[in-house]
Amino acid sequence: MALSHLDQSNYYDFLRFATVSADPARAQIMRECAIWLASKFREMRMEPEIVATPGAPVVLAKWKKGGSAKRRTVLIYGHYDVQPAEMGDGWTGDPFEPRLIDGMVVARGSTDNKGQIFAHMMGVAEKIKAGGPETDVIFLVEGEEEVGSDNLEAVLRSRKEELACDVAVISDTNMAGPDKPTLTYGLRGISALEVELTGPSHDLHSGVYGGAVVNPITVLTRLLAGLHHQTGQVAVPGFYKKVRKVAAWERKAAKALGVPDAEVKRQAGSPALGGERGFSAIERIGMRPTAEINGITGGYQGPGPKTVLPSKASAKLTFRLVPHQDPKEIADLVEKDLKKRCPKTVKLKVTRHHGGFPYFCDPTKGFGPAASKALSQAWGGKRVDYLLEGGTIPIVSVIKKVLGVETLLVGLSLPDCRAHGPDETFPIEYLERGAKMNQALLKEIARA
Ligand code: BES
Ligand code: MN
Repeated sequence: MALSHLDQSNYYDFLRFATVSADPARAQIMRECAIWLASKFREMRMEPEIVATPGAPVVLAKWKKGGSAKRRTVLIYGHYDVQPAEMGDGWTGDPFEPRLIDGMVVARGSTDNKGQIFAHMMGVAEKIKAGGPETDVIFLVEGEEEVGSDNLEAVLRSRKEELACDVAVISDTNMAGPDKPTLTYGLRGISALEVELTGPSHDLHSGVYGGAVVNPITVLTRLLAGLHHQTGQVAVPGFYKKVRKVAAWERKAAKALGVPDAEVKRQAGSPALGGERGFSAIERIGMRPTAEINGITGGYQGPGPKTVLPSKASAKLTFRLVPHQDPKEIADLVEKDLKKRCPKTVKLKVTRHHGGFPYFCDPTKGFGPAASKALSQAWGGKRVDYLLEGGTIPIVSVIKKVLGVETLLVGLSLPDCRAHGPDETFPIEYLERGAKMNQALLKEIARA
């Protein structure tokens, strides 16, 4: 068998797996995609293994030369699962049939995270063909990132020795802009929960009972409105207690990104920005925690009117966290606050979903400088931007906790790539660019 050369057609095959982890009906597709990935790693002459979990399988693949005790090992993490995608969400074509439009690959997962992890695979594949990279490499590609990576910690724990490494590398974050090499040095954490209020035991005629019986939607909207102060600050008591103070250099680095509020507004396609007073948009996103209402349900939602007094109302909430907030503590505070503020006229039920810790790693320490050098090289000597991301990659803090190593966040996604949205894109050129970045990075890590 000839040594594999991974190319654009393999990337397209990868994108054709509709690996929506949130959808239990896709469990078989998840397994098929894991098997496909393992076959690619085998073609690359890596040693793959599919690790079963209670959810979607994890794919591991190793390339070990060993020999010198000083030889470093790099763990490259990615995820093959994607966010849901339906034609009704505004896609201009089948989300799982990639299309190349003006140099951009349009498909669900093209950037988040299939394109980005595939670029690393291409980089390593090419190196193996030429005798191997300067470090040993372990790929870990999971299928549950978009639903909180609940089963991955157990895999890390049970394989701790096997996964021992000097540093982890992840491309699952944004660059500051097109062709702006970016090292992300922090991520927000998350705490997700759901609130359900029950009033009357069944839906009622709003004429016959309205005005006399409590309406759970009215109660819910008041509760939700009380999550924020007028200033945009989160009103949950104790919420900011553990929030770290950002250093002066960080605010300077945020400014140096050259992303004005107007640009964030343009990207969002929103008539106005919102949030906490006293911070720029980019600072709010990277440095400040939030309370967000992700969905709200209750009563009649079909066409035309219906005079109903609903029995139930519910909302999905997420809180984005910054160092040193703890997702469980925050969920406790929120639940306590909701319980305290909720009138006894309805029944309150709070369900907890996933949680993830925030992450922070000083980019001037450890392998940070090596990463900066490699990024700059891959982008023709450009200056590197340092970014605090608003999104969450739950496993990053777990890697630190279980494997004891930091993670270099070297994303290849652009703010305009519409991750999680309709017509998600990835610049096809960034596959090669990412492969070169991977090669420069492994080389610099070996040297550092
Ligand atoms: N790639 C994102 C995380 C991300 C987004 C990092 C934007 C930097 C900028 C990742 O795939 C993701 O979407 N994570 C989820 C995690 C959640 C479901 C626990 C997120 O942030 O919502
Ligand atoms: Mn995502």
